[in-house]
Amino acid sequence: MEKYNGGLYCKKFWSVITALFFFLLVIIYTDFSNSIRSNKTLIQLSSEDYVHSTFGIYEHPNNERITQSPVVNNGEESIRDISVSDNRNESVTGLPVNESGLLTVEETDRSCTEKLQSVADPCLDRYIYVHNLPSKFNNDLLKDCRSLCNWMDMCVALSNGGLGQEIDNSQDVFVRKGWYATDQFALDVIFHNRMKQYKCLTQNSSLAAAIYVPFYAGFDIARHLMGFNTSVRDATSHELLRWLTSRPEWKVLGGRDHFLAGGRITMDFRRMTETDSDWGNNLLNTPEAKNMSTLVIESSPWRNNDFAIPYPTYFHPSADEEVLQWQERMRRQEKPYLVSFAGAPRPHQSGSIRSHIINQCQVSTKCKLLGCDKGGMDKDICHNPSSVMKLFQDSVFCLQPPGDSYTRRSTFDSILAGCIPVFFHPASAYTQYIWHLPRNYTKYSVLIPENEIKDGKANIEQILGRISEEEVRAMKEEVIRLIPNVIYADPRSRLETIEDAFDLAVRGVIQRVNEVRQISNVTCAEYHNWKCSFFGTEGVNDWDHFF
Ligand SMILES: *[C@@H]1O[C@H](CO)[C@@H](O)[C@H](O)[C@H]1NC(C)=O
Ligand SMILES: *[C@@H]1O[C@H](CO)[C@@H](O)[C@H](O)[C@H]1NC(C)=O
Ligand SMILES: *[C@@H]1O[C@H](CO)[C@@H](O)[C@H](O)[C@H]1NC(C)=O
Ligand SMILES: *[C@@H]1O[C@H](CO)[C@@H](O)[C@H](O)[C@H]1NC(C)=O
Ligand SMILES: *[C@@H]1O[C@H](CO)[C@@H](O)[C@H](O)[C@H]1NC(C)=O
Ligand SMILES: *[C@@H]1O[C@H](CO)[C@@H](O)[C@H](O)[C@H]1NC(C)=O
Ligand SMILES: *[C@@H]1O[C@H](CO)[C@@H](O)[C@H](O)[C@H]1NC(C)=O
Ligand SMILES: *[C@@H]1O[C@H](CO)[C@@H](O)[C@H](O)[C@H]1NC(C)=O
Repeated sequence: MEKYNGGLYCKKFWSVITALFFFLLVIIYTDFSNSIRSNKTLIQLSSEDYVHSTFGIYEHPNNERITQSPVVNNGEESIRDISVSDNRNESVTGLPVNESGLLTVEETDRSCTEKLQSVADPCLDRYIYVHNLPSKFNNDLLKDCRSLCNWMDMCVALSNGGLGQEIDNSQDVFVRKGWYATDQFALDVIFHNRMKQYKCLTQNSSLAAAIYVPFYAGFDIARHLMGFNTSVRDATSHELLRWLTSRPEWKVLGGRDHFLAGGRITMDFRRMTETDSDWGNNLLNTPEAKNMSTLVIESSPWRNNDFAIPYPTYFHPSADEEVLQWQERMRRQEKPYLVSFAGAPRPHQSGSIRSHIINQCQVSTKCKLLGCDKGGMDKDICHNPSSVMKLFQDSVFCLQPPGDSYTRRSTFDSILAGCIPVFFHPASAYTQYIWHLPRNYTKYSVLIPENEIKDGKANIEQILGRISEEEVRAMKEEVIRLIPNVIYADPRSRLETIEDAFDLAVRGVIQRVNEVRQISNVTCAEYHNWKCSFFGTEGVNDWDHFF
């Protein structure tokens, strides 16, 4: 699934669509009895009215079933195909035709009006119902921000609807508006606030394609990760599950249409045993959560109930133009460094390739290092959004080795800066963000297997230096095209045509819920989930040794 938001191109595309729409209106309301050959004219309709309607599948008096199917195209959500199936042949326009391919006109007047009505609800199949949770499951956790982190003020970090404080642009690294010092674990509230702006909310849960549970699962566990016993860590999430399962909405599908978003990595919600020394709570291992879909910033390769969505970056635009301007600026950016790395070694983690990466960078004249370890010179600037973004903007390639876990926020910062990410493990991105990044990973990134780094076989500077200028240019352009996919728009406003990371996540969840609704038997062993979600098959493949 590859989707792009091609700014200006979209605008042209829209005018064409609008023109087609009026064209269809003319066709329908003119007396058209004199043979229109409706041969393979793809007519798509658009509408800006997000009408809240109960219009679902329309049963025509003579057994004609009109359904609408979601369209995969370049990011325009509100456009749909109409397909009509009946006992006669059909044209691609959706209007019935007879054997000679001619419009059967007696149908048009009444049924077309009704078809247009159904087309006028672009929210069909996209409605989300949001549970009205007691505030202890979300807002109270936010009020309790002092307890969320011992070493930094999360109350400041979660200001502005979760975006954090506006960043001053003294280093001229950013554009004027839309930049915030966003915390990497702030997604619980950003996602919830974005949902409040979702165009297709419904109060009627039986219309909903999926049901959102606005529980701040990440903030809940953040309070208790260190120094609390397992019963304290589990208490709130278990209380939430009791609340959910008592609701009528749960009973319809046993929770299989429910989803929640917790802005932390899967490990924080997957304690293996009941020993206090084990990490995290056990939310995702409960039978209830196994029925639901949970969005996290890093999912488990071996589990099928969690789904990875991008970490938040520092950029939260409130208008399409801000995104287009930023992309244009990144296209023009000069890049003095071939490659850079911002991060710290992991001396206590056996098998970590961080120290190899740092060593290689230190001896290379083409690599710029921002050392983030405690004693490191760059410790302070390392957590400064301007310095990090400046470094990435100045670099062609950005190294993204695993750290404490497979994924890093830095990956999304580098994409935002038009810097081509270099990965060392497929679970650092490819098998994770399947809704947001192209499956063909060579288009926008480089994979250097981590064992080749450990064995000293791979020289990063040489590998990257061998990539032709033309390929580098194409990859960089692809990275810049991906920027809209990995940013979360300012939840206080709404982008016009651009789909952001939130939009893609909701689309992915709805698709997943639809699959779950249909498939009653399991087709893939859960521990092979990473294979099935990326390759679509459980068979032996090149990446087996990584997992
Ligand atoms: C429909 O189009 C196809 C090719 O696109 C053509 O071969 C065929 O003759 C056309 N049929 C009619 C009825 O116009
Ligand atoms: C539909 O089209 C096919 C091939 O063009 C034809 O063989 C068939 O008879 C048509 N069916 C009807 C119901 O018109
Ligand atoms: C097909 O429909 C057109 C227009 O309604 C009509 O003129 C024509 O006779 C029909 N052809 C057949 C074979 O039914
Ligand atoms: C909710 O939607 C269902 C299905 O369309 C409908 O039958 C029901 O009447 C609606 N309920 C309310 C309260 O509107
Ligand atoms: C867990 O900790 C809480 C509060 O510190 C305490 O009240 C409770 O008894 C402890 N539970 C267990 C099983 O140790
Ligand atoms: C999970 O879904 C299955 C199938 O719908 C259902 O039988 C089961 O009761 C659900 N589990 C819970 C905890 O609701
Ligand atoms: C993936 O992208 C690369 C680079 O653009 C291209 O050469 C290759 O053909 C693509 N592979 C597939 C399967 O599309
Ligand atoms: C899954 O279900 C389908 C239809 O219900 C059936 O044909 C198929 O054999 C089942 N597959 C497995 C692996 O049980």
